[in-house]
Amino acid sequence: SAAPTRAPESGTGVFGTGRAAIAARTLRTDRWWVPPLATVLGLAAFIIYATVRAFVRTAYWVPDYHYLTPFYSPCVSTSCVEGSSHFGHWVGALPSWIPLGFLVLPFLLLFRLTCYYYRKAYYRAVWFSPPACAVSEPHAKYTGETRLPLIIQNAHRYFFYIAGIVAVINTYDAIIAFHGKSGGFGFGLGNIIIVVNAALLWAYTLSCHSCRHIAGGRLKHFSAHPTRYWFWTQVSKLNTRHMLLAWVTLGTLMLTDFYIMLVASGTISDLRFVN
Ligand code: FES
Repeated sequence: SAAPTRAPESGTGVFGTGRAAIAARTLRTDRWWVPPLATVLGLAAFIIYATVRAFVRTAYWVPDYHYLTPFYSPCVSTSCVEGSSHFGHWVGALPSWIPLGFLVLPFLLLFRLTCYYYRKAYYRAVWFSPPACAVSEPHAKYTGETRLPLIIQNAHRYFFYIAGIVAVINTYDAIIAFHGKSGGFGFGLGNIIIVVNAALLWAYTLSCHSCRHIAGGRLKHFSAHPTRYWFWTQVSKLNTRHMLLAWVTLGTLMLTDFYIMLVASGTISDLRFVN
């Protein structure tokens, strides 16, 4: 049954003068709170895991097979363990409160934070703005993304460009991870996990709404731009799976890191197919 809440008052949103004066917060009788609850639990699990792993500075590099966890890539500090800095040392030793993946982690966070799908997820699940369809929000005022801080959401496309660069770095990491214990080519279960993760990160990044707009937005005649039209068509197909990819990549990022952590710490040994 619907929980009673404050009476509608003049203002914005569901309290606007043009809206029906319904005192109940919602007339929904289904378990509408299940999706926002699942969302908040899922996001919290990832944030806790990623934060812990980003700071621990252990078991992030497997020297035998050149596996590097995405949370530490690129590792450009002299604090990084030997062999893990594929792009050289750009900075000296870092204090323990700065993650070794400091170069890209903030941008990846901003990319996901400003993502059109994640906005929906946390606006509903965290801010209850509103928590579900036909459930009124507790906030009396609604300014949306028209002023600080939420106006920063408009910068999403720039974080998309950076995420594209990071996807290239992840791909590079995936390629050099085909390294055998005795040198040369090697192939193990870790490679499959790393490659699948990189491929899904590409799919998530390319399915971005900003990417779709960059590909085919503002064109008056698709017929005059066949290449962009083709690209836009492909991105549009992927885009329908954007929410799924957003969640799947949170899972594969954790799985990839977790597997590399287990192998790097000697808890398990990598299942090797070649070398
Ligand atoms: Fe989700 Fe761009 S809209 S990453």
